[in-house]
Amino acid sequence: STLMLAGIREILIISTARDLPMIESLMGDGSKLGLKFEYRVQDQPRGIAEAFLIGENFIADQPVALILGDNLFYGHELTQLLERASGLTKGAQVFAYHVTNPQAYGVVEFDELGKAISLEEKPKTPKSNWAVTGLYFYDGSVSAHARSLKPSARGELEITDLNRLYLQKSQLEVKTLGRGVAWLDTGTPETLITSSQFVQTIEERQGWKIACLEEIAMDMGYITPLQVYEQAASLGKNQYGAYLTRISAERMK
Ligand code: G1P
Repeated sequence: STLMLAGIREILIISTARDLPMIESLMGDGSKLGLKFEYRVQDQPRGIAEAFLIGENFIADQPVALILGDNLFYGHELTQLLERASGLTKGAQVFAYHVTNPQAYGVVEFDELGKAISLEEKPKTPKSNWAVTGLYFYDGSVSAHARSLKPSARGELEITDLNRLYLQKSQLEVKTLGRGVAWLDTGTPETLITSSQFVQTIEERQGWKIACLEEIAMDMGYITPLQVYEQAASLGKNQYGAYLTRISAERMK
């Protein structure tokens, strides 16, 4: 949904050989959402930056965004930030978020003027509390840059090393996300629970869903309310189907 809000419609989904068929049967080819999905396996955990090698033909030297499947972004000002980032044609842009446990993330250090000066992956003694989030925007040279990376001590092509290449060329923009944005991680049992509680709280209060793909596709104009209404019918009588029926009917009034 974050990529959709950035206006991105061609999406390559990368996962393990075990999980990818399940994801593909759930998500399909994207046409129901006015999108285009492709799928590729990463057969060994050789690092996030390997995505740019696995996806090299897909990217075809065009600007590209990468989002990690366990990252959740929510906030009012987000859509404009995403739209701006996806307009990037030269260099790279990442986002930094203030966290209590920077040791678990890529960490960025800023100088007094707010310029990023260093990047470290999961440092034991972090130079700041600013974590680099799992949403990255790059220019068309990203696959070539990824190709020049060497595996780290843990045997991975590190996304932080890739970002450091851009930083060293003064081509990395690090944008801080403000307090009004929630960046949540769902990658551990604990963070999955706390993220679920956050989503549940907001959804129950507003009566609107967070990251409902059909709703976003409809509001982006990729599919019509009637299409969503018809898709809802095929979902049967569950709560998700009822939600789609309601929001599509509202837009057809
Ligand atoms: C990865 C990146 C790290 C980044 C984090 C965001 O960490 O290596 O730089 O801050 O995603 O979620 P990992 O998911 O491998 O722990």
